[in-house]
Amino acid sequence: MKPSGRKVCFMTGASGRLGSEIALSVAGQGYTVFFTWHSSEEKATETLEKIRWISPESTMVRCDVSKPGDIKSAFELFSKQFDRLDLLIASASNFYSTPLPEVTEEEWDSLVNTNLKGTFFTMQEAARIMQHQPFVSRIITMTDISADLVWRNFAPYTVSKTGIQHLTKIFAKKFAPSILVNSIAPGTVTINPEKDMDTPEEMIKKIPLKRLGDPLDIVRTIIFLLESDYITGQIINVDGGRLLQ
Ligand SMILES: NC(=O)c1ccc[n+]([C@@H]2O[C@H](COP(=O)([O-])OP(=O)(O)OC[C@H]3O[C@@H](n4cnc5c(N)ncnc54)[C@H](OP(=O)(O)O)[C@@H]3O)[C@@H](O)[C@H]2O)c1
Repeated sequence: MKPSGRKVCFMTGASGRLGSEIALSVAGQGYTVFFTWHSSEEKATETLEKIRWISPESTMVRCDVSKPGDIKSAFELFSKQFDRLDLLIASASNFYSTPLPEVTEEEWDSLVNTNLKGTFFTMQEAARIMQHQPFVSRIITMTDISADLVWRNFAPYTVSKTGIQHLTKIFAKKFAPSILVNSIAPGTVTINPEKDMDTPEEMIKKIPLKRLGDPLDIVRTIIFLLESDYITGQIINVDGGRLLQ
């Protein structure tokens, strides 16, 4: 184990399009980052190389968050390497459309087990470490404004994100005052033409601030939460006003 003077972050989903930007920015805030990836080894390696320029002790591990045993193993490895956990960012997520009449059990399991079950057991492992530490630590979950919208073609995804928002409040209440637990719900930040139902132009029409989100919009919100000592159990929508419509 390395006794660490630096703050340490455990993050899932740092090989994601937004997740990789978040991991880099957390390293930029002075954290050592221990992150997980699942199938995107190349993107994870590229992200780790960038992070190590500013945070040389950062490291990564493969983990399927839909399997609690994998999460447990990742935390065991984490605890062998680090003696503190200041921040969990639970960002790993699966996203694709599932038209309601045709949703299969396999699709339901892959979306709900990755997003909701995975986030729960990741939070549980993190809280086990954090609750015994003599300082305040933080958990940030990543959800989606679709938790407050009615998307007919994304039921397993939106239900899982709504569930994470509720878990955020339960963990915040259970572990106050030692762990601050909040959620960020982005609007559309990155475009995925293979999976999105609307074109970017159609999305922008629904956003009062007339642009898609930028990873920096999310990063700024994370930094705000890292500097806040009196906010817990909140869902922060970062959506350019999309939910106003
Ligand atoms: N980007 C947006 O516009 C947007 C909008 C609303 C909400 N969000 C939320 O913000 C967070 C970050 O988004 P993103 O753009 O980085 O998402 P993304 O590009 O879809 O990346 C998803 C991440 O989750 C990981 N993942 C997927 N299945 C996994 C599994 N079974 N086990 C472990 N890891 C798994 C992926 O790892 P591998 O690639 O290595 O498999 C990847 O790192 C997500 O929670 C997302 O729902 C994003």
